[in-house]
Amino acid sequence: MHSVGNDWWRDAVIYQIYPRSFADASGDGIGDIAGIRSRIPHLVELGIDAIWVNPWYRSPMFDAGYDVVTYEEIDPLFGTVEEAEQLIAELHAVGIRTIVDVVPNHTSHLHTWFQEALAAGPGSPERERYIFRDGRGPNGDLPPNDWVSCFHGPAWTRVTEADGTPGQWYLHLFAPEQPDRNWEHPDTVRELEDALRFWFDKGVDGFRIDVAHSLFKAPGLPDLNGLTWDDKCGEHPHWDQPGIHEIYRSWRRIADSYDPPRVFVAEAWVPDHQRLKNYVRPDELHTSFNFDFLTCPWDAARMRRVIDVSLETLGSVGAPATWVLGNHDVARVVSRYARKEQRRGQNLVHLAKEYDLEMGQRRARAAIMLMLALPGSVYLYQGEELGLPEVEDLPGEVMQDPTWARSGGTDPGRDGCRVPLPWSPEGPTFGFNTTGVEGWLPQPEWFGRYAAASQEGAAGSMLGLYRTMLAARRAEPALGGGEIEWLESPSGVLAFVRDGALACVVNMTGIEPCAVPAGEVVQCSGTLTSDGRLPIDTAVWIRL
Ligand code: GLC
Repeated sequence: MHSVGNDWWRDAVIYQIYPRSFADASGDGIGDIAGIRSRIPHLVELGIDAIWVNPWYRSPMFDAGYDVVTYEEIDPLFGTVEEAEQLIAELHAVGIRTIVDVVPNHTSHLHTWFQEALAAGPGSPERERYIFRDGRGPNGDLPPNDWVSCFHGPAWTRVTEADGTPGQWYLHLFAPEQPDRNWEHPDTVRELEDALRFWFDKGVDGFRIDVAHSLFKAPGLPDLNGLTWDDKCGEHPHWDQPGIHEIYRSWRRIADSYDPPRVFVAEAWVPDHQRLKNYVRPDELHTSFNFDFLTCPWDAARMRRVIDVSLETLGSVGAPATWVLGNHDVARVVSRYARKEQRRGQNLVHLAKEYDLEMGQRRARAAIMLMLALPGSVYLYQGEELGLPEVEDLPGEVMQDPTWARSGGTDPGRDGCRVPLPWSPEGPTFGFNTTGVEGWLPQPEWFGRYAAASQEGAAGSMLGLYRTMLAARRAEPALGGGEIEWLESPSGVLAFVRDGALACVVNMTGIEPCAVPAGEVVQCSGTLTSDGRLPIDTAVWIRL
């Protein structure tokens, strides 16, 4: 059953736009809002319900816009607030909603408050808006604790005080240009509430909350004592602290004060579903990304467990599940599925050398059919509908992700999934712009093969499959919200029914074709065998 009206988010298909890499209308090599506006027909034809746009606010771009100076201005690289409003209105006119990013954990180091904090010195009220501490050791020249940055190296940087002496340290869980805010400070709370209202007033339909499980830090900032970045939350001093839920309750009240009510999706890498569900209780956020699904290997038993646990735990608080295969932080799905093993972790970029891209494409085709058959909402990452692989051989000198430099060139980071999109098979930037100015990351010569225009009308293309499947999901009354019922199936095969009417079967055996239930084949991600069985790495929808 499809959700309507204010419940649209319960089973929406949301397309992530990474604005620097989507389409470049200004022709300077960096995508922009005018570029997004020029490609609205692509979004309409794809058949999505909403877009999520990564940060477009004023920023010095040390982390591609996740270092925000102010929410009330659009960075000139991307356009203006007026253009953002035009985009929102043009999308609304074609029935597409807009979700934007909010980054509450940290600011840019160029934020006025951080600059004031640096100038004002130790013990000042200005320093209270961030997390400044004296160093350890006799001269304070050791960091205040053992926390590490997501992008490698310590999570603390020492400042030079106004008199030129080495001074206090400030916390940055990400780059040094992204100081963590103090969430115990009322100014922090107020600034973020103002940011939400500013964009809700401009017509945005919701926010994606960056690092939603951080914000508060354990009192006393205790050492990690061996815990890693990815360790279970709860006992972790900078993840999933209790204070967070009161903030999200107040954000929910703001969202609910609008007509129609606005929505939130949390980027919360909380590995324990019992804790994740706390973020989506009825008076908190609406949904949360399902990173267990994204990181799950191509293994039917494990996939089934992730699906069951997601539906059960989130359902226990009345929240829908979400399904996602990619975003701007992880290696592209066809390249992950092209590997026998998929490593668990945040930036799944350390991929095994050996791979089989055809297998990756087959599995990605089956996976989109699986996702669209499950109850809940679905996130797509730009380029996924083109079957675009990760660019794995970007040379070190073009790398922009702070991870690369901070790891001393050992961790490639996330640039490989952020290369500007190919729109046409030819031309110096494959239609990313018309000036031919090279994109902010170079496109490989094979990119044109995956261009949207190359797939237009081509039999069996990924783009064709995405369009067909999105339309089929919309047309199918058994899909959207609701329950699933598992069918008995051989080991390695996922098989379930929606609403007693539509079966979805995915062959993950890796060994042999499997039988499918009797009925009419609605869609298949490949071709059934001559005796009607489902080949490996293939999915089918069957009307019973
Ligand atoms: C989130 C974003 C990522 C960013 C980080 C810091 O994980 O998705 O791109 O680098 O937060 O804001």
